[in-house]
Amino acid sequence: PWRTCQKRGCHVLRSLSWSRRLPVPSEQLFMEMAEVMATEGWRDAGYEFVCIDDCWMAPTRDRQGRLQADPKRVPSGIRRVAQVHSKGLKLGIYSDVGNKTCAGFPGSYNHYDLDAQTFSSWGVDLLKFDGCNSDTLELLAEGYRHMSLALNKTGRSIVYSCEWPLYLRPMQQPNYTEIKQYCNHWRNFHDVYDSWSSIKTILGWTALHQDTIVKIAGPGGWNDPDMLVIGNFGLSWDQAVTQMAMWAVMAAPLFMSNDLRHISPDAKWLLQNKEVIAINQDPLGKQGYQITKDMNFELWERPLSGQAYAVAVLNQQEIGGPRNFTFSLTLLGNGLACNPACSVRQVLPASRDWGFYSWVSSLSVEVNPTGTVLLKVVAP
Ligand SMILES: *[C@@H]1O[C@H](CO)[C@@H](O)[C@H](O)[C@H]1NC(C)=O
Ligand SMILES: *[C@@H]1O[C@H](CO)[C@@H](O)[C@H](O)[C@H]1NC(C)=O
Ligand SMILES: *[C@@H]1O[C@H](CO)[C@@H](O)[C@H](O)[C@H]1NC(C)=O
Repeated sequence: PWRTCQKRGCHVLRSLSWSRRLPVPSEQLFMEMAEVMATEGWRDAGYEFVCIDDCWMAPTRDRQGRLQADPKRVPSGIRRVAQVHSKGLKLGIYSDVGNKTCAGFPGSYNHYDLDAQTFSSWGVDLLKFDGCNSDTLELLAEGYRHMSLALNKTGRSIVYSCEWPLYLRPMQQPNYTEIKQYCNHWRNFHDVYDSWSSIKTILGWTALHQDTIVKIAGPGGWNDPDMLVIGNFGLSWDQAVTQMAMWAVMAAPLFMSNDLRHISPDAKWLLQNKEVIAINQDPLGKQGYQITKDMNFELWERPLSGQAYAVAVLNQQEIGGPRNFTFSLTLLGNGLACNPACSVRQVLPASRDWGFYSWVSSLSVEVNPTGTVLLKVVAP
C-alpha cells in the first residue's frame, strides 16, 4: 500500500517535458517554457508540470554524495528552477534506478534515500525514474520499490513515474498489481518518436496487450504510452488528431514534448482542446480498449462517468482517400451504451452534435487515412 502520491491530484495528471527534443537542456529554456505555459493557456488547460529529462546533472556527485546540476546547463541550480511554482506550475525531474542514467550521468543506485531527500528539498513534484544500467532484474525491482518508499518518506507529494515494466518485459511478465502499488504511472513500451510509424506501433502494442494492461489502470496508477509529439515535424494533421484522440482513449498521462514558443495554432488548438482533455481526465478512470478491427478500421471505446462512452474510429488504410465505416450502436458498451437511445457528439477532428440515435441504429463515420474520428456517446 505504498503510493508516493495519494492525492486525488495524482490521477488528474497532465505534464510537460522537452528534453527528448533537445539533447542539451538549459535552465533558460525551461524558464522560458514555463513562462509560455503560464501565459498562453497551457497551465489553464491543465498542463501543470514542467519536466526535466536526462542530462541535467553534473558528471559527478558533490562531496556529500548528493546529485548536483551541471554548472553550465543549470547554473542557478534546480531549486531555482523550482520557482516555476510561483507561476502556478510544478517541477518534474529525472533520475535512473541503476548505476548510470541512459545518457551516462550518475544513477541513483545506492543513493535512493539521499536522492529522494535531495529532490524533495529542492521542491520537486514528479520523478521520472528510468531503468538503464541495472545488472539484474532483482536489482531493478528492488530499486523501483526502494525509491517509491524513499519518496514517500520525504513527506512531500511526488508523482512517481516508472519504466519498470518496460525493462522487465523482454525477460519477465510484469506483475502490474505490484507495480501499481509503487508507481503512479509506468512505461510499457519503447520511446515515442516524432513519426506516424512510432504512433502506429504504440497503438498496435497496446491493443495486443490490452487484456493485461487495461484492467490495472485507474486512479493512482496509469499505463504510460509516452509523450505527445504533436506540434513538431513528423505527424500530419490527421495523425496528430489520432495521437490526441487515442491518448485520451488510453487514459494516458499527457506529457507534451515540443517547443511551445514555436507551435502552430492548429497544434495548440488540438493540445488545449477542453473536450478531449476532459475525456482523458475522466473521473471514472477507466482505460479504453479496442472493440473490433475490420477492413483496416479500428473501433475503440472508453467508458466514461455519467453513463457515457468515448468512441474512436481510426482508419489505418494509407492508400486512397477518406473512407466510411458503418457500425451498429449495439457494439458499444456491450450493447448497453445506447440502450434505449443516446446522443452522439463528435469531438474530433472538429466538434459537432450529431443528435439522438436509437439502440438499433447504425452510425456511418467518414475517416481520413491515418486519421481518427472521436465521438462522445451519452445515454440520456
Ligand atoms: C552498480 O555497480 C556495482 C559495482 O560494479 C555493482 O555491484 C552493482 O550491482 C551495480 N548496481 C546495479 C543496479 O546494477
Ligand atoms: C506515504 O504512504 C502512505 C501509505 O500509503 C500514505 O498514506 C501517505 O499519504 C504517503 N505519503 C506521501 C507524502 O505520499
Ligand atoms: C503480484 O504482486 C502482488 C502484490 O505484491 C502479490 O500479492 C501477488 O502474489 C503477485 N503475483 C504473482 C503472480 O507473483
